[in-house]
Amino acid sequence: MLKLFRIFASAKGTNPWLVVTCLVLASVAEILSMSAMLPALLAVSGESGILPPAFKVVIDATLAVTGMPATIAGFTIAVVLMLILRTILLGLALTYAGFSIANVSTRLREDLLNAMFDTKWRYFVDHRAGRIANTISVDATRAGHAYLESAKFVAAVIQGIGYLAFAMMASFKFAVAGIIAGTIIVVGMGKLIAVSRRAGRRQTRSTSQLVTLVADALNNIKPIKSMARTVPFIAMFGANLQALNKSIKIQVLSSQGLDRGNDILIAVMIGIAFFLAVGVWEITLASVTVVGIIAFQSISVVRRLQKFLQRGAELEASYHAVHEMSAKLAREAERAGGAQDITLDHGCTFDHVTFAHEDQPTVENVCLFIPSGKITVLQGPSGAGKTTIVDLLLGLHEPASGQITIDDRPLDQLSLKAWRSHIGYVPQELSLLHASLRDNIALGNTALSDEDIVEALRLADAEDFVNSLPDGLDSNAGEMGGRLSGGQRQRIALARALVGRPKLLILDEVTSALDPETEASICSNALDLAGVFTIIAITHRPAWSKIADRLYKVDNGAATEITAPAKRRRKSAETPVHE
Ligand SMILES: Nc1ncnc2c1ncn2[C@@H]1O[C@H](COP(=O)(O)OP(=O)(O)O)[C@@H](O)[C@H]1O
Ligand SMILES: [Mg+2]
Repeated sequence: MLKLFRIFASAKGTNPWLVVTCLVLASVAEILSMSAMLPALLAVSGESGILPPAFKVVIDATLAVTGMPATIAGFTIAVVLMLILRTILLGLALTYAGFSIANVSTRLREDLLNAMFDTKWRYFVDHRAGRIANTISVDATRAGHAYLESAKFVAAVIQGIGYLAFAMMASFKFAVAGIIAGTIIVVGMGKLIAVSRRAGRRQTRSTSQLVTLVADALNNIKPIKSMARTVPFIAMFGANLQALNKSIKIQVLSSQGLDRGNDILIAVMIGIAFFLAVGVWEITLASVTVVGIIAFQSISVVRRLQKFLQRGAELEASYHAVHEMSAKLAREAERAGGAQDITLDHGCTFDHVTFAHEDQPTVENVCLFIPSGKITVLQGPSGAGKTTIVDLLLGLHEPASGQITIDDRPLDQLSLKAWRSHIGYVPQELSLLHASLRDNIALGNTALSDEDIVEALRLADAEDFVNSLPDGLDSNAGEMGGRLSGGQRQRIALARALVGRPKLLILDEVTSALDPETEASICSNALDLAGVFTIIAITHRPAWSKIADRLYKVDNGAATEITAPAKRRRKSAETPVHE
């Protein structure tokens, strides 16, 4: 119960008390319409004398508000008017509450998305992408609904207090009996709410697992299909689907148990009350009817309270999943860094840099200099630590010891976002967006013109192939770029890196899927660009070693400089390389 209150109070993106006020106003209208109905009944039976004086005040106020005469016709019209008012208020309240669900969910999603993009790179390697996707889509929606249930619950508590006061005015004895009956119902059905909570938790977990499994399978669908591994993969879903199925059935059972259990308990209690009232205490039938209406309304509040508690308990897990994910992402947030100006006139230096993935030393005591306006090539066997070295330069990892400086400014004092805004980067594992080539190259930068994009395509030697596509720049790259060949994908990724005219260009195995001619063309463009850009290329290809100004061999986490052919040539001939 307290948990629901907490959810209610912590909701961002809406005014929780306004939601409750609307809901309470709707029930006030309901009480008023009831109080207009009571005297009508009593007038018919001619027993209005049994009403306590405080009750009369409410009735008189109702008549005064509605301006109806104290006749049966007047009462009836007042009842109908009040019921219409109640319906309008309820409609407004539920609409506002529904909008609140949207706002609460949207706010949670915005927070999660912001946190996601500010999270350290390591997090995305260690965690399943499907989990984040599921939390942002499914859990955020369910969390919005949990919020609504919590608001309805708070409104029902307020309403319950109102009814109790109302019942006290009508009959103290019955009000006390009502409290006892309500307590029996709440305690009796409390276990089912705990069952709902557990089922909700299981459902949240299973849904998240399902999305994760689907996302993982889709990313690997080509090898799975090509090697006919579909049957074992579908079998992997079996346990998960069963768990989801079971949690939904448990929810149905606990919801039905709560409703029907309440029905039975209430029927028994009404029977006892009726027997006591008419058979033992010999209260008149008209009074029993009046008290009966109040009792019925009070019981329905108790039932609603329980229903909200139960639905809240079912949805609570998603609300917590969203908040846990937010907190986790916030804990893994990248440092923001300082606000120093960033220049790259001299170069980047690795000064005895050491880094370990978990306890696995990956980069050991590396000293490198990446001169500005030159081409630096890193070579070495697979797993040597080349990608990790550029990840360190990108600030995706932080060195365990040693220092990286950019024009003599320590990288750990620079704003990472500002530094990266000067970088064009082609990662080793390529994946494009399921979007047009234009959008793939712009990657969200709306300031870029088509001319900028075409120029980048030219430098990436991709202009001809894009022009040959029927839709040109509007052609869709397909899922993960699947409509393009590996080499075409690499060139689109290269154009994406070049288009912002970055100071530093980092190319991780950028021509590995290209034929020698296209590679030679890109290398020649790179030679033209060196001087404008600083280029780091990770590659085994001789074409790159030939144009390198600096060549490093990376092996087992250590880097050694090899005299680059370009340097040799320049030393001997004293002529610029790019001619
Ligand atoms: N996120 C990671 N967690 C643990 N180990 C990693 C991670 N990324 C890379 N490694 C390990 O670090 C070593 C260097 O990887 P990498 O820099 O990608 O090599 P290269 O690019 O030279 O082929 C490899 O042994 C690899 O298994
Ligand atoms: Mg690599």
